[in-house]
Amino acid sequence: MVQRIILDMDPGIDDALAIILALRSPELQVEAITTVSGNVHVDQASKNALKIVESMPDLKKKPEVAKGVSKPLSRELTTAEAVHGKDGLGDSNLPEPKQPLSKKHAVDLMIEKVLSSKEGELTIVTTGPLSNLAFALLKEPRIAENVGQLIMMGGAFGVTKYGFGNVTPAAEFNIYSDPEAAMIVLKSGLHITAVGLDVTMDPSALITPREYEKMRSAKTKGAELVRRITRSHMASFGFLALHDPMAVAVAIDPSLVTRKKYFVEVETRGEYTRGQTIADRRGNLRPKTVRVGNPITLCTGVLGEKFIKLFMNRVILQT
Ligand code: BDR
Ligand code: CA
Repeated sequence: MVQRIILDMDPGIDDALAIILALRSPELQVEAITTVSGNVHVDQASKNALKIVESMPDLKKKPEVAKGVSKPLSRELTTAEAVHGKDGLGDSNLPEPKQPLSKKHAVDLMIEKVLSSKEGELTIVTTGPLSNLAFALLKEPRIAENVGQLIMMGGAFGVTKYGFGNVTPAAEFNIYSDPEAAMIVLKSGLHITAVGLDVTMDPSALITPREYEKMRSAKTKGAELVRRITRSHMASFGFLALHDPMAVAVAIDPSLVTRKKYFVEVETRGEYTRGQTIADRRGNLRPKTVRVGNPITLCTGVLGEKFIKLFMNRVILQT
């Protein structure tokens, strides 16, 4: 069965790769791409989403792209041009998009899509700060019951040895950017699978110079596009983490990851720990006190080789 998804994101190099993977996967039907400020300001993120969609002219149906909120709920915006380039797409200078943005605000489009779908039918995949989804939940709490599942790239939960912060020692970028939004989403009752740094930083799931070499030699349009977006990042960092494509891959093939349920809290006040995601790993040691909210599903392991194969086949070698 084809899974209908909304991609909510802040493109972003790896967000761009996630769009390509989703649009090249017959298991998924991308209903809309909604954008949010994160890696870059939402104006640029929206332009980037359109650029990527337009770089795939053979698509039968182009998803609508709707612009979302421009800043976190109660924080100043922190962007990540140092990682993603000034244009957010590795300074790739892709042509300016022709397709217009949706006339609807991302939050409204999200609500509309969710409420007009049958209960449990729609999956939301988030690969950026959770500001749009938090606004949507505040505006229309009924969406929590209607969404089938939320697969979110975000957090560092300490459930593997790779699960520590990236933007700070304690926090992962998407959660750090808008911790209040993350808290609203995590406590909303949505069925959540979190794809954290615990799995996206697993060395077996990274694009290393060896994989990059395969990209360099592939003669496909996909390879050419991805080289253009990732070249400067590879030159600066020497590897590429596929954080956001992994969230899409989990929607395509849930068997790529192992999972376990945990109660999770988000740090919104700490001096050094803003945006830290604290999974209660105490197991039987945990006092049997009343907990607020539901446990969420965390990815605790990934079949890195299988994931990279899926990514390479669909994004690099297919066209
Ligand atoms: C996340 O932060 C962003 O920079 C990436 O696009 C990804 O969504 C990884 O921490
Ligand atoms: Ca992202």
